[in-house]
Amino acid sequence: AGRDFIVAGGAGYIGSHVCKSIADLGGVPITFDNLSAGHAHAVQWGPLVDVDLRDREATSQAFNHYEHVKTVIHLASSIEVGTGEKEPAQFYDNNVSAALNLLLAMNETQADRLIFSSTCATYGETQNMPLVETELQNPVSVYGKTKLAIEHMIQSFHKAYDLKYVTLRYFNASGADESGLIGEEHNPETHLIPIALEAAAGRRPKMKIFGTNYQTPDGTCLRDYIHVNDIAEAHILSEFAFDKGLTHAEVNIGTGRPISNLEILKTVEAVTGLAVPFDAAPPRAGDVTKLYADSGRAKAVLGFTPSHSDITNIIKTAWRFHSQKWNHD
Ligand code: UFG
Repeated sequence: AGRDFIVAGGAGYIGSHVCKSIADLGGVPITFDNLSAGHAHAVQWGPLVDVDLRDREATSQAFNHYEHVKTVIHLASSIEVGTGEKEPAQFYDNNVSAALNLLLAMNETQADRLIFSSTCATYGETQNMPLVETELQNPVSVYGKTKLAIEHMIQSFHKAYDLKYVTLRYFNASGADESGLIGEEHNPETHLIPIALEAAAGRRPKMKIFGTNYQTPDGTCLRDYIHVNDIAEAHILSEFAFDKGLTHAEVNIGTGRPISNLEILKTVEAVTGLAVPFDAAPPRAGDVTKLYADSGRAKAVLGFTPSHSDITNIIKTAWRFHSQKWNHD
């Protein structure tokens, strides 16, 4: 309570929910964001500082302006997997170079705690489910490779400069805050749940299900959907863990429950009462068959237990956010 946090990427989907959780506890989230993907209207719980982390000098100045802040939450990144394959230079610049600038700037101030947004996409194709944190990391996508490069950079800064860190490897972020004030607003949208909601509402033509012959019970991919408010909570718990003396950890943030793409469509139909028109399509490049978390370490190290991630609740809250947004269009 009463603490200031620098939240890089605070104008984004997950970042805005993290900022709200900080404010709910009486803290002040200071958003650093260049609004290349985030939205100014999502920054509602603290100041917005317009800074491009690729600019080392500007990043250093912004950090020095808030040099009393102890904890930095770094969520700013390019996330669209397909773009990463086509434009790796842009991805390494926006993700890896920017993270280096952020770490260098932290070295100049009192900030010695970092909570970093990583991803289950750093593991790559493995059949060993549920995924444990010690699993070999061999990412398929450029996106996953940039996140793994940052994980390694952070580990090196920990060893050499005493940086304390928690790397959170999120599984599939989904849902929206109960308030309906913030939610998932990617442009272009590539994620399954918002696309299925748009298809149900008739706001896009038939959607595609990428791959229907996978080695899974119904032939479609399996993912682990975790509510964005649970993800936000994991950041708060990471801060408390630092207070109790934690110096470093890599932690999966998921539920451990696999859900197929077709099950998502069925749940969207149940929640909305509308049919989701779709066609079977070939697999999407870079997709892995199944990804779900072993969440034992999150519970042991952070005391994390998801409480919002019932799949019906995830889709209900996402539907509420999207319907309210469409009403204002
Ligand atoms: N899918 C479809 N049709 C669509 C969209 C998605 O069938 O129109 C399928 C995908 O092929 C996949 C599943 O739905 O099988 C989930 O796809 P998402 O795009 O919603 O999410 P991913 O599992 O691909 O998530 C990945 C990484 C995350 C990362 C995210 C980046 O696992 O770590 O991409 O946006 F954050």
